[in-house]
Amino acid sequence: MTTLLRNCWYVAVSSKDLKPKKIIHKKILGEPILIGRKKNGQVFAMRDICPHRGIPLSYGSLDQDDITCRYHGWKFNTNNGKCKEIPSLTKYDNLDVERIQVLTYPCEEVQGNIWIYFINTNKSQSKSTDIPSVPTIPDFGKLSPGITETMQFSCNIDHAIIGLMDPAHGPYIHDAWWWRSGPRKFRVKEKHYEPVSQGFRLVSYNMPVSARPYKILGKDVSIEIIFQLPGVRTEILKGDRYSACLLTCITPIDEYSCEIFQSVYWTIPWAAVFKPLLSLLTRQFLAQDRDAIIQQQEGLMYDPSLMLIDDADTQAKWYFRLKQEYQRSQENNIPFVNPLDPKILRWRS
Ligand SMILES: [Fe+2]
Repeated sequence: MTTLLRNCWYVAVSSKDLKPKKIIHKKILGEPILIGRKKNGQVFAMRDICPHRGIPLSYGSLDQDDITCRYHGWKFNTNNGKCKEIPSLTKYDNLDVERIQVLTYPCEEVQGNIWIYFINTNKSQSKSTDIPSVPTIPDFGKLSPGITETMQFSCNIDHAIIGLMDPAHGPYIHDAWWWRSGPRKFRVKEKHYEPVSQGFRLVSYNMPVSARPYKILGKDVSIEIIFQLPGVRTEILKGDRYSACLLTCITPIDEYSCEIFQSVYWTIPWAAVFKPLLSLLTRQFLAQDRDAIIQQQEGLMYDPSLMLIDDADTQAKWYFRLKQEYQRSQENNIPFVNPLDPKILRWRS
């Protein structure tokens, strides 16, 4: 339940929260990480601890390609983590400073998010060729999100993921006047799912126009939802006029907390005026999930045994199966094979 998957890309920070020439500290998968953006816009990530005396390097300064530690001025190259200079050395010292190295992480910026790849520490460092490409939303090219909201959840990543993919909590947790007109009506939902590379997807279907905001996209709005390990949910909406996408990425801070990154993309040229409203609604929506999680923690403290029922919790069961299979493939150094089969899921909500 609590294992944090490695050999995966995780969103570390939203692009908008890291300006050029800035460095920030983050705890991700329990590790101290420094993430920076150089003057030329390039992003990088390294272990946020000076190998000399342990002070976080993020208290230091970034100058061109180098980080200078604020404690003793040791200078490190941000591209390879190698030490370049130790100011206290004299010509009588023969210390090879380049042998001192800070761990660096593969770091890439894609569609408005900065991602970091966590190598499996049990094995010798993977070659760069072993690293898969960063999850990308198809058909959205280099489009940046209109808005990105981040929120911390005080729970293990598993509870955040199964909470966000859970189709039965909507009517109770996300009850908003602007979403649906009229009183709440439960209906039987019947949806077709199939496996994809490291997850599963809700096969694209045309939505009944019950939800008001979708009409902005035009007629015949189709929806497709893809979930991929370690915690990436992509919801793509396509109408005859415009498309939109909701990307939700969950990154463990440690075993007890995680960070949710929610980005909304759209191709609607005039929608920029709605950014403040959309930000507010997205925050409200995430806060509803967060508040339920906070209450749930009060019960989880007693370590109760929990239930996953069919079909409302089948996606949660799939998540655990995928995770287990992914871990098995990592441990045995064999290729990951998706264990899921196509299935129609039915629930009332
Ligand atoms: Fe929710």
